[in-house]
Parts: sequence; structure tokens; C-alpha cells
Amino acid sequence: MATKKNQKPHAIMISFHLQGHIIPFVNLAIKLASKGFSVTFAHNEFIHHQISKSQSVTNSTEIDIFSQARSSGLDINYTTISDGFPVDFNRSANFNLVLESFINKFPDKVDEFVGKLVQSNSSDYFLIADTFSVWSAKIAKKYGLVNVSFWTEPALVFSLYYHLQLLRENGHVPVNGRRQNIDYVPGIKSINTKDFMSYFQDSELDLLHKVIFSAFDLVKSADFILCNTTQELEKETISALQQRQPFYAIGPLFATVSIPRSLLPESDCTEWLKTKPKGSVLYVSFGSLAKIDKNVILEIASGLLISEVNFIWVLRPGTVDFSDGIFPGGFENRMKERGLIVPWCSQDRVLLDPGVGGFLTHCGWNSVLESLWCGVPMICYPLFTDQPTNRKLVVDDWKIGINLCEGGVITKEEVVEKIESLMNGKRGDELRKEINKVRNVLQNALAKDGSSEKNFDCFVRDVVAQIHKRCVQV
Ligand SMILES: *[C@@H]1O[C@H](CO)[C@@H](O)[C@H](O)[C@H]1NC(C)=O
Ligand SMILES: *[C@@H]1O[C@H](CO)[C@@H](O)[C@H](O)[C@H]1NC(C)=O
Ligand SMILES: *[C@@H]1O[C@H](CO)[C@@H](O)[C@H](O)[C@H]1NC(C)=O
Ligand SMILES: *[C@@H]1O[C@H](CO)[C@@H](O)[C@H](O)[C@H]1NC(C)=O
Ligand SMILES: *[C@@H]1O[C@H](CO)[C@@H](O)[C@H](O)[C@H]1NC(C)=O
Ligand SMILES: *[C@@H]1O[C@H](CO)[C@@H](O)[C@H](O)[C@H]1NC(C)=O
Repeated sequence: MATKKNQKPHAIMISFHLQGHIIPFVNLAIKLASKGFSVTFAHNEFIHHQISKSQSVTNSTEIDIFSQARSSGLDINYTTISDGFPVDFNRSANFNLVLESFINKFPDKVDEFVGKLVQSNSSDYFLIADTFSVWSAKIAKKYGLVNVSFWTEPALVFSLYYHLQLLRENGHVPVNGRRQNIDYVPGIKSINTKDFMSYFQDSELDLLHKVIFSAFDLVKSADFILCNTTQELEKETISALQQRQPFYAIGPLFATVSIPRSLLPESDCTEWLKTKPKGSVLYVSFGSLAKIDKNVILEIASGLLISEVNFIWVLRPGTVDFSDGIFPGGFENRMKERGLIVPWCSQDRVLLDPGVGGFLTHCGWNSVLESLWCGVPMICYPLFTDQPTNRKLVVDDWKIGINLCEGGVITKEEVVEKIESLMNGKRGDELRKEINKVRNVLQNALAKDGSSEKNFDCFVRDVVAQIHKRCVQV
């Protein structure tokens, strides 16, 4: 294949089918295209349908999520790949079946797709896949594509997964309920095993564990790794990783054009927020994935009522078993006096509103970054996956949030205490002071000569060089 030095390479991007991964991946596509790359972007077909539905588009063949991006001059072609199941197949009720097919059947679909693309066009293609997309190594090898692994969680979490073998050898994974400080993972000064990701906690390995662990075997062969974090926030962890592989901290990346990315319709909270004093509203959300015990929801609801705080609460369908109603009679009416309960909303829009003064969060990485960016301190209630580890960064390392629950069981009294100390107390002022410092760090990182901008430009330079090198070799 001849090298076309003056033609920008063409990125093939196939998203991973979870909400928290879709948002960053779409933003990354925009960022790449704005640097002059051509992009072919594919969503899983059912994700495409979900997004269409959330936009109230009934004929989903009509929606092209990147049309606005394209009319602003970006070269992004958008298409879909079926995972082999019908669009209306209930994927959450068949989690393991879908996961199995993601491992065993989806790769063939991707293979077919990539094969056609590569043959149809003589551009210099390269592949960008979510780190969890375990099909990428095989495809990249088959077509000789330079490959990029995109990590949507902090470098700390990446590093822990990366050193799984070391942690196992030392007997610290599986954790099995022990609490121990460890200090031997390169670039991680100290972490307690209780703060490890949920997948390190139990000794029984289900299919999802296996996918994640195998993803981290494969990532060791990736040509480049991109991470949605900021160099200054995780300096030592990132430096240690950079000794092993090309690793670029490029976050937080926000999209500059509006792209539909939500799998659920978003309620508009702006009018309601307009009626509330500055910093008076607590925003409560547990993200796009988690299921929560009904008792926990009830303790939180009671806490919100007693504390007399204004609040927006995202209670996504599926968070909790709704069948017999969540709240006792009269409860919901009392909550409506000060609270707005919505099934889903545009989180960055809410967090940017001056009315919002605190965020009760599950500590998903997107939520943490968005909260940081908006200077909103957090009350942390991590549930699973990387959330307990993210909590450590927020509460212990950066001191921009507090724990909702210090013991094992959550009580309304503790909920009230934490809400009051965040929204009204001296503690809240300290947290706000700290978070504004961190926010400045992020803003500087995104400025023209900031670390994230520079790192992204380095990545662009390095990936282009690598593609040209590979082409000459072939
Ligand atoms: C959906 O839109 C496409 C493209 O505009 C059109 O060809 C097709 O007939 C429409 N389908 C239905 C069911 O309206
Ligand atoms: C967009 O991608 C599809 C699927 O790969 C392809 O058939 C089509 O020709 C592409 N369109 C453009 C304008 O590149
Ligand atoms: C899918 O299955 C889940 C769990 O079995 C159920 O709660 C949900 O209502 C189902 N969704 C649809 C659209 O049928
Ligand atoms: C081929 O790739 C170029 C850029 O790399 C793009 O502009 C063009 O639309 C592509 N054509 C097809 C058919 O995909
Ligand atoms: C990246 O590409 C190299 C060379 O083609 C290949 O050996 C490796 O397995 C690929 N890794 C991933 C994660 O795609
Ligand atoms: C990075 O994180 C921010 C905050 O959650 C998110 O909005 C953005 O999409 C992410 N971008 C990338 C490229 O990961």
C-alpha cells in the first residue's frame, strides 16, 4: 500500500454499547474529526434505535446522529452494525446471552464491516475501540491496522486492572472482604483494597469479569491508549503507565457540536431551576446502569425531606423495583414542594446551572468529571465497578467530596447530616474551595497550551507517524 502523506488517516470507531461509554466515544469522534481526520463511526443497531426513540424519531432510518457535525464541516460517516439480536430484544433481561454473543458472534460482524470498508477505500485506516471491546486485537491484526484503545475511566482504575497479575501474586485479589493498604503498584502511592473495583472483590468470576480481565491482557498490545483524565490530576499513575505503553491523558473532552447521545428522553429542568436561589439545589443521580435497593431509596428520600433542601432527583426506570410504587402514600406530594423528580435529564446542563450547589452521585467517572468541570462538590454513594475507586480519588485524594455513608447501612439521619454539611456547613465551603482549585486545573489543561490539548496533538502526530511507518512496511 502506498503512503499518502498528504491525506489524513481515516479512523474506524465502533462504540461499546453502554451509555457511559457512548458519550465519551462520540465526543472523541468529534474531536478527531475537528483535527482533520476522516471518521467512520458505527453504533450497535439497537443503540441507534434507542437514541432515535429518545429523540422521538419514529422512523429510525431517518436519523443520522452526526448530521449537525457534518454540516459544520466535519468528515464523519455514520452507520450501524447489528449484534445479531432483533432491535426490540430485551437485552437487560438477557444480559449474559448478549454478553456471550458480544464475545463470540459480534467480532464476525465487525470483521465483515471493517473488511468491506478497508477494501472499498484506499485511505489509511486505523482502529479506535473502547478498551472493553475485546474483539479489537483480532481485527486489528487481521487487517494490519494501527490500533488505539480508548479508556473511559480514570488512570488509577486502568492501572489497577493493568496490574491484576501482580495483585494476584501478592494475594490481594480477590479481596474477599479484607482491608489492607498496598503500596507496590507502580505509580500508586497507596490504596486500600476496600477501594478496589467491585470486580476485584469477589473470588467467583462471572462472564463480565472475564471480559474485563481479558480486555486488560489485550490492551498490552495496543499501539496507543487514550484516557479521559487530566495529567495534573493523576500525574504519578500516568507517568508509570507511560513507561510501559504510549498513554495519553486527553480529558475532559466535551463535544463542541450537539450530537444526540442519550438512550433515554431527557426532561428539561431549566425552568424549574430558574425559580431556585443560587447554590440551593442538590442534584441526585445514580447514573445509567445501577439498580438500587428499595430501602436505600427510601432512606435517601426521607433524608431529602427532613433536610429541607431543594433537589432534582433522577429516578431512571429500572433503578428500583417500581411495581408497587416506590414511595409511601403522600410522600411524593410532599417531595414535589421542593423537589423535581425526573426519569432522565441532560446532566451537564443541570450541573452547569448556578442553582445547583451539590451532587449526590454514584461516582461514575463521567459524573465525577462533569461535577469537577462545573465546580459542584459531591456526596458519594458508589455502587459497583470503578465507582468505589473513583470515590477514593474524590474524597480521600482530592478532598472535593464526602461519603454519604460511613458504615455499612445507610440511614436517613446520616443522609440528613451529610446533605446539611455539604449544602450549608463549613465543610461545604472547604469542599467548594478545593473543587474550584481542581476546576482551574482542568480549565488550564484544556487551554491552548494546556496538557490535555498538547497530549491530544502529540497523539495525532504519533498515530499519523505510526500509520505511515506501518504502510511503508507492508
Ligand atoms: C423511513 O424513512 C426512509 C428514508 O426516508 C424511507 O425510505 C422509509 O420508507 C421510511 N419508513 C417508514 C416505515 O416510514
Ligand atoms: C459511509 O459508510 C458506509 C458504510 O461503510 C458506506 O457504504 C458509504 O459509502 C459511506 N459514505 C461515504 C460518503 O463515505
Ligand atoms: C426487560 O426485562 C426486564 C427484566 O426482566 C423487565 O424489568 C423490563 O420491563 C423488560 N423491558 C421490556 C421493554 O419489556
Ligand atoms: C473514503 O475515505 C475518504 C477519506 O479518507 C472519505 O472522504 C470518503 O468518503 C470515503 N469513501 C467511502 C466510499 O467510504
Ligand atoms: C494492535 O496492533 C498490533 C499490530 O497489528 C497487534 O499485534 C495487536 O494485537 C493489536 N492490539 C489491539 C489491542 O488491538
Ligand atoms: C470525558 O468526560 C467528560 C465528562 O464526563 C465527558 O462529557 C466526555 O464525553 C468525555 N470525553 C472523552 C473523549 O472521553
